[in-house]
Amino acid sequence: METLRASSVPSFYIPKALQKAHLITKPNFMKFQSSQLIPSWSFSSTKENTSTRSFKVFTISSPTSSSSTIISTENTYPRPPEADFEAEIKDEKFDWFSEWYPIMPLCDLDKRVPHGKKVLGLDIVVWWDKNESSWKVFDDACPHRLAPLSDGRIDKSGRLQCAYHGWCFNGSGDCKLIPQAAPGGPQVHTSKKACARVYPSIVQHDMVWFWPNTNPEYKDIITKKKPPFIPQLDDPSFSKVWINRDIPYGYVNKLSLSFNLKFK
Ligand code: FES
Repeated sequence: METLRASSVPSFYIPKALQKAHLITKPNFMKFQSSQLIPSWSFSSTKENTSTRSFKVFTISSPTSSSSTIISTENTYPRPPEADFEAEIKDEKFDWFSEWYPIMPLCDLDKRVPHGKKVLGLDIVVWWDKNESSWKVFDDACPHRLAPLSDGRIDKSGRLQCAYHGWCFNGSGDCKLIPQAAPGGPQVHTSKKACARVYPSIVQHDMVWFWPNTNPEYKDIITKKKPPFIPQLDDPSFSKVWINRDIPYGYVNKLSLSFNLKFK
């Protein structure tokens, strides 16, 4: 995934509109057929009065006529859809950090311990918050001295506790305990600087997914955009086997391998 991040972010370009191109139906004028004569065809470029986009004007000349018959489709046929798709291609870019990503299947997650992962080059920790009965995904760096939270533990109160100095965090990333702080001293644990960074996360298809951006504006991103839904994965008439393995290479290489789903 490091490879993917280095080579593809931030402006990896996927012309989705090209993929749609095969769906374009041939304009009606292209279906024109002469039953007896083979006309000569010509196209010329022009521009709409109200737009800077160019489109084609079709004319046809009959070879049997002393003076060529010119049939212009101008003002008859709408602008071919290709022009719109070309414009769409120019504007479309894929943002790798504005998508949901699966992290781990639930069957591989132990609720008693935090799990460290690297996805899209991000070090994250997945842990079970028993107080909210949900899986949480945090940045795998303690806000105190950046120790990996995945090296920590789940304390008796169900909080994620850093292994280095013992700071404890609830499911919202709030620091709830700094063991070294004086009981009657300033409430330093309430400082925003003491908060862990939380990624939006959700369980779907028996997998934990996360949104790779801790910016608070994405906190409720699930209400606007959901992970890809594959109904067969939740269909009991289908069987599935999860295999979870960390391999440090990019998305393109991954696509060259097989993604095996056995259906019966
Ligand atoms: S580095 Fe985590 S508590 Fe100090």
